[in-house]
Amino acid sequence: MTKALRAGPIVVNVALAGRAYDIVIGRGSLSSLGTRIAALRAGAAALIVTDENIARLHLTAAHGVLRAANVRSSEIVIAPGEQSKSWRVFETVCEGLLAARLERGDLVIALGGGVVGDLAGFAAAVARRGLDYVQVPTSLLGQVDSSVGGKTAINSSHGKNLIGAFHQPILVIADTALLDTLPPREFRSGYAEVVKYGLLGDASFFFWLDANWHEMFAGGEAREHAISMCCRHKAAIVARDERENGERALLNFGHTFGHAFEAACGFSDRLLHGEAIGLGMALAVQFSARRGLLPMADADRVIAHLAAVGLPTQIKEIPGGAPKLDTIMNLIGQDKKVQRGKLTFILARGIGAAFVARDVDAAEVESFLAEKISKR
Ligand code: GLY
Repeated sequence: MTKALRAGPIVVNVALAGRAYDIVIGRGSLSSLGTRIAALRAGAAALIVTDENIARLHLTAAHGVLRAANVRSSEIVIAPGEQSKSWRVFETVCEGLLAARLERGDLVIALGGGVVGDLAGFAAAVARRGLDYVQVPTSLLGQVDSSVGGKTAINSSHGKNLIGAFHQPILVIADTALLDTLPPREFRSGYAEVVKYGLLGDASFFFWLDANWHEMFAGGEAREHAISMCCRHKAAIVARDERENGERALLNFGHTFGHAFEAACGFSDRLLHGEAIGLGMALAVQFSARRGLLPMADADRVIAHLAAVGLPTQIKEIPGGAPKLDTIMNLIGQDKKVQRGKLTFILARGIGAAFVARDVDAAEVESFLAEKISKR
């Protein structure tokens, strides 16, 4: 499929009473940022938070479309990488918002990947007791997951995303052309979160991805379709369970295993977030099959898809070797999802039929992982 231009963007609405907002998905949709902001908040000034890499690629264009719509804009540029989700950089951003004299009616624009979105969103949640903000995600992970739903956070020495707030954006602009400049490894890593939506609740989307992932990687309408499907699923879940009291937990499919491997690798380039989630999902379907919940043929089909795309599906594929079993078990035990010694996992009864299991014994997980680690 070529990089075709459709007539207009796809707009998905997140239907939260009194705080509903649009996700605008399309090649070139960044060009509408200024006019959409002017329509939503007439007269507001905007402060763009971005990182050095994204600033080089897209900051001039972002200021340009704001200027064209008479939206005054300034910027704060942070260092790229997970290290910026810290108290220190958070303070710099909050002080920068105040130094730029942003008033209550003004807004913050998070232009970047998940790190920028989480950090800028959290600063917007607390500066002046709450400023509006707009998400302009520039990574695939950002466009299909982290920019939607209002989870904002920084990291603590005790773990990832432990300091944060729910604060919904007023608009998300997902310009799919911005993904053209992503390194292939980063795009592939974000793709793990795309597959997640098929696995957790939409088997036909999984099978569509299995048939069309090449086109989705190449760009054009298949990419827009896939991103809009993820956003539709996420918007529906968030509208029903904004604060993760129930079904929003399904979005953590693959994350309990995945976070443990990501943490064991020091949140480094050794294993990117999406690679850890791909591996986590491969383990989650195998664990589900081992419990007799899911036919092994379904687990094999999921694993074959992840492997075809180039995501790791076996622990031995982690560069530098498998982390030690007790390290992984320790990290799983520290997860937010432990209750009275029982672990919570998202498991599957079929492709597209995930559910929250709150009764998983640590010993059962340990023997499963021991088998997987020793497998050559
Ligand atoms: N990324 C998971 C969630 O937004 O709930």
